[in-house]
Amino acid sequence: MSTENKKLYIETYGCQMNVSDSEIVGSIMKDIGYEQGHSPENADVIFINTCSIRDNAEQRVKKRLKEIRILKKKNPKLTVGILGCMAERLKEKLIEEQEFVDLIVGPDAYRDLPKLIKTVETGRKAINVLLSEEETYAEIEPVRYGDNGISAYISIMRGCQNWCTYCVVPFTRGKERSRDPQTIVEEARDLFNKGYREVTLLGQNVNSYNWNDKEVEFHHLLKLIAEVSPLLRVRFATSHPKDISDNLIKTIADNHNICNYIHLPVQSGSTKMLKKMNRKYTREWYMERIKAIKKHIPDCGLSTDIIAGFCTETEEDHQETLSIMKWAEYDYAFMFKYSERPDTIAAKKFADDVPEEVKSRRLQEIIALQGELSLKRNTEDIGKTFEVLVEKISKKSDQELAGRNTQNKMIVFPKENYKPGDYVMVKVHKCTAATLLGTAVEN
Ligand code: 5AD
Ligand code: SF4
Repeated sequence: MSTENKKLYIETYGCQMNVSDSEIVGSIMKDIGYEQGHSPENADVIFINTCSIRDNAEQRVKKRLKEIRILKKKNPKLTVGILGCMAERLKEKLIEEQEFVDLIVGPDAYRDLPKLIKTVETGRKAINVLLSEEETYAEIEPVRYGDNGISAYISIMRGCQNWCTYCVVPFTRGKERSRDPQTIVEEARDLFNKGYREVTLLGQNVNSYNWNDKEVEFHHLLKLIAEVSPLLRVRFATSHPKDISDNLIKTIADNHNICNYIHLPVQSGSTKMLKKMNRKYTREWYMERIKAIKKHIPDCGLSTDIIAGFCTETEEDHQETLSIMKWAEYDYAFMFKYSERPDTIAAKKFADDVPEEVKSRRLQEIIALQGELSLKRNTEDIGKTFEVLVEKISKKSDQELAGRNTQNKMIVFPKENYKPGDYVMVKVHKCTAATLLGTAVEN
């Protein structure tokens, strides 16, 4: 059957890895004649790329599936597929629960989509949730969905085997594996030639990147990408504190176009909690790494992830989280209430014993403190001049542009004759907790 001009609509939930995976899926589907659709109503195929990290991520998808079910009732020819982490976690149970779903595909099985779609065309359900120890989709050129044409994601490694006790990812994304560095450098070069000016290297633990038994480690890879062009900015996410090596810190410090920004999830400030989470570092060890970062990259932007109310967390443990936040002075944080995930080590071994109202109160305290810290950090930037890579027209006014400085802070300034893709020196004169406001100045 010809699939010419058929429309694929992909909706993506969860992390940047999922955004990147949807672009790989888009590329695989393009090869069999599907073009990007812009609304679910007109689509021939709808894929929902899902996240399982917390229960509310799954609930959001389930709510959305109720709406998609109505679309499918109106148009029985519509193919509906569930991709990603929920597909991997729940497997055929998802089809039992959501009988209108045609396709279940896990994160390592996207190459099989053309075959699976054929199966669905013959009126059967199709499922592939096999995890792989090798798949990195290395040579697939992702379609770039709706990005700004300036910054793009490059997936450099997949999977995770750190086994943090709270986390579902080792179950949904399988073993850690790194992508061939040659293909990564080529992808970065190709993006640069197409006009992109920033790449973000992605992986569950990017800094554990290891090609061919340490022949190429993460800091080597960063340097290779930075050498594509001094006009190409390089970012990366997410780093595990255990692998923030001195070599990596020095590589960032020594290369102007490797951004001075590190997202370093701490999760908790209490060594007792960190041990229970199996994070493989102590409070003191993490603090020492932050000190090393601040020593070699004094203006480094820092952000983190924090979980409130993990199993057995006491008021003292919580205070230690607040105190490490104050000490590190994070620019930004992603903050969550612990959500027990089925099958994880914590679900099997520990009681989820911090009462809901205590979790909520602790999370609120963490959020309030981070609000103060973000505002403090931004206020310190008033009067400073930053090199900004312009990304887009500002949401609030078409007379203003928005872009980020090396520290990953969004800066808004009057447009004048500048455009997306330009590097502009901007002097900051005002701020909120989220944004810096400034004016372009002569170099
Ligand atoms: N409950 C709450 N937050 C979680 N995270 C991971 N698993 C859980 C969980 N079960 C958070 C961590 C991680 C981020 C991506 O999500 O902070 O760094
Ligand atoms: Fe969600 Fe984690 Fe899967 Fe990303 S890897 S989609 S955050 S569960």
